[in-house]
Amino acid sequence: MFNSGANLRASLRASWRRVDFRGGAAYTFGMTIWFASGNEHKRAELSAILPQVELRVPADAGLAFDPVEDGDEFLENALIKARSLFRLVKQPVIADDSGLCVDTLDGRPGIHSARYGCVGDVRLGDAERNALLLSEMEGFPMRGACFVCAMVLLFNENRFFAVQETLEGELLREPRGEEGFGYDPLLYLPEQRCSVAELPPELKNTLSHRAKAARAIAAWLELQNPSGL
Ligand code: IMP
Repeated sequence: MFNSGANLRASLRASWRRVDFRGGAAYTFGMTIWFASGNEHKRAELSAILPQVELRVPADAGLAFDPVEDGDEFLENALIKARSLFRLVKQPVIADDSGLCVDTLDGRPGIHSARYGCVGDVRLGDAERNALLLSEMEGFPMRGACFVCAMVLLFNENRFFAVQETLEGELLREPRGEEGFGYDPLLYLPEQRCSVAELPPELKNTLSHRAKAARAIAAWLELQNPSGL
């Protein structure tokens, strides 16, 4: 019998709902994916790119989540976060690890971006961290830098999809802009002629390292489930 496009899509959808990711719920429209982060800026950015997914963070469930990120690379740390949260929730998890890499500083602060300049366990605020980086960069004419984001969508200990993306720019000599968070006021984007913190949030969310990584994850989900996302 002739199967119309709509019928085909409906039957694909029905069969997809029976697929189990082994260790997690089947992927369906509106499924829950945990996000291994306490950063609400990041959750908002990711939610905008995966609007069909309910993103839950550990704090939503009152979970204490502070894994030791002792990897040597962004990707290693993203996997550490993803696996740690998966062990707690036994559901699909997205985790990312990101930071600012400055060419002249051999890629620092890099994986230590969040802890850059911290004394013991006490972290600096964004403004203090930015001031410290600018002082370290004083006198350096070469200003190339980029944000890096490694992102992992993990379904169980052994099954995951991973991607690493960048947002390239130049380090400014003083902070510019009020939007965003972290090092956003320091990274100038020549093509946009402004700093990341001067971009409207919607535009940052199409250009950023995290947005590009999240879109790759969304595309991968789409490949698994043409009818869902
Ligand atoms: P993470 O939460 O371990 O990935 O640490 C990331 C750190 O890198 C943040 O605390 C920020 O300082 C910095 N960072 C990562 N992504 C961004 C961004 O999009 N804008 C500004 N700073 C960022």
